[in-house]
Amino acid sequence: MVVPHLMMKMNIFFFFYVTLFQLLINPALSLPLCTDSNAPHTPKTPLVFCNYNGSSCCDSTDDSNIQKQFESMNVSQPACASVLKSILCSRCDPFSAELYTIKTAARQVPVLCNSTVSSRNNFCETVWDTCQDVSVTNSPFSPSLQGQSKLSDIWQSRSDFCNVIGRASVNESVCFDGEKVSINISTNSTKSTPTGMCLEKIANGSYLDMVAHTDGSNRAFFSNQKGQIWSATIPEVGSGRGLDLDESNPFLDLTDQVHFDIQFGLMSIALHPNFAQNGRFFASFNCDRTQTPSCAGRCACNSDVNCDPSKLAPDSAAQPCQYQSVVAEYTTNTTASSRTSVISTASPVEVRRIFTMGLPFTSHHAGQILFGPNDGYLYFMMGDGGGGDPYNFAQNKKSLLGKIMRFDVDNIPSESEITRLGLWGNYSIPRDNPYNEDKDLQPEIWALGLQNPWRCSFDLERPSYFMCGDTGENEYEEVDIITKNGNYGWRVYEGATIYTPEKSPGGNTSTGSINPIFPVMGYEHSDVNKNEGSASITGGFFYRSTTDPCLYGSYLYGDLYARYMWAGVETPENSGNFTTSNVTFSCAKDSPVPCDLVPGSELPALGYVFSFGQDNKKDVYLLTSSGVYRIVPPSRCGYTCAYESRTTGSTPAPTSPSGSGANMLKDSCKSLLLLLLLFIGLSYY
Ligand SMILES: *[C@@H]1O[C@H](CO)[C@@H](O)[C@H](O)[C@H]1NC(C)=O
Ligand SMILES: *[C@@H]1O[C@H](CO)[C@@H](O)[C@H](O)[C@H]1NC(C)=O
Ligand SMILES: *[C@@H]1O[C@H](CO)[C@@H](O)[C@H](O)[C@H]1NC(C)=O
Ligand SMILES: *[C@@H]1O[C@H](CO)[C@@H](O)[C@H](O)[C@H]1NC(C)=O
Ligand SMILES: *[C@@H]1O[C@H](CO)[C@@H](O)[C@H](O)[C@H]1NC(C)=O
Ligand SMILES: *[C@@H]1O[C@H](CO)[C@@H](O)[C@H](O)[C@H]1NC(C)=O
Ligand SMILES: *[C@@H]1O[C@H](CO)[C@@H](O)[C@H](O)[C@H]1NC(C)=O
Ligand SMILES: *[C@@H]1O[C@H](CO)[C@@H](O)[C@H](O)[C@H]1NC(C)=O
Ligand SMILES: *[C@@H]1O[C@H](CO)[C@@H](O)[C@H](O)[C@H]1NC(C)=O
Ligand SMILES: *[C@@H]1O[C@H](CO)[C@@H](O)[C@H](O)[C@H]1NC(C)=O
Ligand SMILES: *[C@@H]1O[C@H](CO)[C@@H](O)[C@H](O)[C@H]1NC(C)=O
Ligand SMILES: *[C@@H]1O[C@H](CO)[C@@H](O)[C@H](O)[C@H]1NC(C)=O
Repeated sequence: MVVPHLMMKMNIFFFFYVTLFQLLINPALSLPLCTDSNAPHTPKTPLVFCNYNGSSCCDSTDDSNIQKQFESMNVSQPACASVLKSILCSRCDPFSAELYTIKTAARQVPVLCNSTVSSRNNFCETVWDTCQDVSVTNSPFSPSLQGQSKLSDIWQSRSDFCNVIGRASVNESVCFDGEKVSINISTNSTKSTPTGMCLEKIANGSYLDMVAHTDGSNRAFFSNQKGQIWSATIPEVGSGRGLDLDESNPFLDLTDQVHFDIQFGLMSIALHPNFAQNGRFFASFNCDRTQTPSCAGRCACNSDVNCDPSKLAPDSAAQPCQYQSVVAEYTTNTTASSRTSVISTASPVEVRRIFTMGLPFTSHHAGQILFGPNDGYLYFMMGDGGGGDPYNFAQNKKSLLGKIMRFDVDNIPSESEITRLGLWGNYSIPRDNPYNEDKDLQPEIWALGLQNPWRCSFDLERPSYFMCGDTGENEYEEVDIITKNGNYGWRVYEGATIYTPEKSPGGNTSTGSINPIFPVMGYEHSDVNKNEGSASITGGFFYRSTTDPCLYGSYLYGDLYARYMWAGVETPENSGNFTTSNVTFSCAKDSPVPCDLVPGSELPALGYVFSFGQDNKKDVYLLTSSGVYRIVPPSRCGYTCAYESRTTGSTPAPTSPSGSGANMLKDSCKSLLLLLLLFIGLSYY
């Protein structure tokens, strides 16, 4: 009897010790998130048992299951019953993912506050004091002990118990004190709003995407819309040098595969998390089925979604689903040893077709690909297909349009398995994708209700902040925090406003049938189009570099038309409550590549802001139709930032720009014109 008991004590102790240790080294908080990685939502019918109205992780089914569990515990002592009830119900807390530390090792009971801070209860001690000698059937504190047990059967003393189950309620960690979690993090109120964003231009070329090398070096890959990818070396901030990128020597040239037109092209590139070792990388592009034999996927307009391809005309492309959205895998095809040195070219041979899908119209097919920093899965952003989403694809869980998808590209099933499962290519479905279990729905879906997610990123410091800019139709450009199974409302809502579709042959979704997650930031079209007629969001990054300390921690985004940039500051942290301000920007006088100015103004002539990029030093870039710009110390533009030290502000003497001599102006002008209508709400061609 005694021996297994002791061993169990040690195991539990060891398990929690490891958990605590991980927490200590990674105390970063996340946004409100449930233990199943879903965002909290407001239950349709109020909970009867658990006291969690409003935003919660439980619905009435969870509530009644918790009630059954509680009743089965058969706790006779009322005070202990009450604290145990609150502990069971903490699964409904909007911060339950933090309480149960799902990112490290999932726990059976929440982290109990073991506070020495006077403002918080020492709830852990309360639990011990009220329950230590009360018998509990199937106690959650000892899941491996069947039948009745007391806390004092498992732990010798209060401090034993609290050392394992508790956690000091310091401000940067979340613990349960018997009440709904409220996070009170002292925000850095001295943090000044940025006075301006200083840019330096480091290249003339026009690129759509940029990804940092996975080896942590100063190299990055750049891709253009036509279908070329380059490996480049990024100069030090303040070195006065330009981007070292040889236009005449692309790393990979896919131009003969890629259909390049107004809204078509090579949309995105992604490196496998182990790229430095395995050389695997991915490209997302569009192709024309009448031109390339491999451009042949199932049409997104099909009978499963009540869409007849022959009826798409006259608004559609020349042929139904003539243009397709593709994700393909490539390899550097060199030995590991040579990969660690300088990679110059990749094998242009495609290793594997990851995904192919025919597009109903010619707009809104996003196409960004990103590997999740926590899970290593490939996220693939897909727009609603355009046309004002007449078929209501974005809300239809049988359609992949208007969705964020999530693939496992490390476990590729056999061809027969792919066919049996009805997949759209060579990938498998991560077990915890929300519709993995439901045969009628598309298991690729991670999140839904998007119009054209144009540029998403994961916060380097808080990977659960998966941010996307999502374009609007008539009124509002939005920024969303993407969570598992989150429904971002389109086309029931545009932003937080009910949207009335112009055409609806595919029917409507009623407002009452969904739990939309509204944007956390954004801007009205009327804010930006006083002079010119359009608006289209380009989502950016949480700025995590110290190059501009006044921007640190702000989420940066912009408008395609380059007249405005915004910085969103979250107060309090992890609340989802963002205050945005438009940030003025200018070009450093000592910019390595001189900036052109908008005639009659001090504004740099950026052209169109297609994307933002981030390098291994966390510096942030603007990829525009006129070149590549980097955010540099504000003092170089004469902006004041109290946190900027004198040394980072020193301005080096500009040297003559190095890098490629190839003048891309002509090409970038062409793609500029073609891209003019890229992301805006107007959709039919
Ligand atoms: C939750 O809603 C129910 C029904 O409206 C109500 O009885 C209960 O008091 C509410 N609880 C809280 C904590 O607001
Ligand atoms: C609950 O506990 C009481 C005594 O405290 C006992 O008589 C009863 O049988 C128990 N019920 C169950 C279902 O274990
Ligand atoms: C919990 O509190 C007790 C004293 O109340 C303290 O000895 C112990 O170190 C604390 N444990 C943790 C993990 O904070
Ligand atoms: C945490 O709280 C303590 C006192 O409550 C305060 O001194 C400290 O600055 C806070 N830390 C952070 C990171 O806010
Ligand atoms: C948050 O903490 C500050 C000081 O750390 C305190 O003054 C304030 O009352 C707290 N607010 C809440 C809601 O607990
Ligand atoms: C506020 O932020 C600045 C810059 O990040 C830092 O130097 C300062 O110590 C912070 N102040 C507090 C009270 O946390
Ligand atoms: C960029 O373009 C300008 C002309 O607009 C040219 O003078 C300059 O040499 C180019 N720089 C690079 C690095 O290509
Ligand atoms: C890799 O290189 C070998 C020999 O150079 C070649 O046979 C093979 O087809 C290449 N594989 C890919 C995927 O390019
Ligand atoms: C899987 O990849 C192979 C090689 O590229 C390709 O021939 C095949 O069609 C792909 N399967 C699917 C379902 O796309
Ligand atoms: C969809 O809703 C709009 C108004 O919001 C309405 O005009 C239209 O008739 C509806 N379409 C269908 C098929 O119900
Ligand atoms: C930008 O901010 C300034 C104040 O800083 C304000 O006057 C201006 O209207 C804002 N413009 C937009 C488009 O929000
Ligand atoms: C949201 O942020 C604003 C500006 O900092 C602040 O005034 C407001 O109280 C915050 N709201 C909540 C719910 O925290």
